[in-house]
Amino acid sequence: MDFAALTDWYDHNHRRLPWRETRDPYRIWLSEVILQQTRVAQGLDYYDRFVGRFPSVADLAAADEDEVLKLWQGLGYYSRARNLHAAARQVVERHGGIFPTAYADVRALKGIGDYTAAAVVSFSADAPYPVVDGNVYRVLSRLLDIDTPIDTTAGKKEFAEAAFALLAEYLVRKGHRGAGLYNQAVMELGALVCTPRSPQCAACPLAGGCLALKRGTVGERPVKRGK
Ligand code: ADE
Repeated sequence: MDFAALTDWYDHNHRRLPWRETRDPYRIWLSEVILQQTRVAQGLDYYDRFVGRFPSVADLAAADEDEVLKLWQGLGYYSRARNLHAAARQVVERHGGIFPTAYADVRALKGIGDYTAAAVVSFSADAPYPVVDGNVYRVLSRLLDIDTPIDTTAGKKEFAEAAFALLAEYLVRKGHRGAGLYNQAVMELGALVCTPRSPQCAACPLAGGCLALKRGTVGERPVKRGK
């Protein structure tokens, strides 16, 4: 993969979102929980309101659950808000109110899965964990022309391994920046260029090495087992 083209593209084209202007793991976590099943345009307001009312994880932990649920109103999936509050209390109990940046510590918090843990530790501390969300599945399935269905155990394993291998390759190159920037760049490429329908391959920094583009299978990637 042409890593320099990818990060150059990101530098010039990424959306300036508030959670990208911070290295605070608490705020990054908050943004990721809000953005699960919520569009960026809608999530922005909620993010600002939560950060305004709860500037630190200790502020969130000290709140009544009712207040957290009230601020969450409109986002749906209230278990996310309950987990958010519970995890904030875990951070106070286990880590003295300092949001952790070690993968295992973050992953052990309530409601945090592999994706969110990787996002928090890579965006905040450049820890070398690849984020693998829907955008990344799409980009990797096309770049490497992988036809293993993404909604199978074998597919998840194959994509996780491919994502780790690409991140490792990126990190060994000199002159590039950290894992967080790389992860954001792949995600943003999936959100803005390598889109589900009508991908903008002519504007893609990775087009030169994209196997699916070469083979004419872009429209068939990623594969889902479906029902
Ligand atoms: N969706 C989930 N995480 C995101 C992020 N960090 N930036 C933009 N959209 C996202």
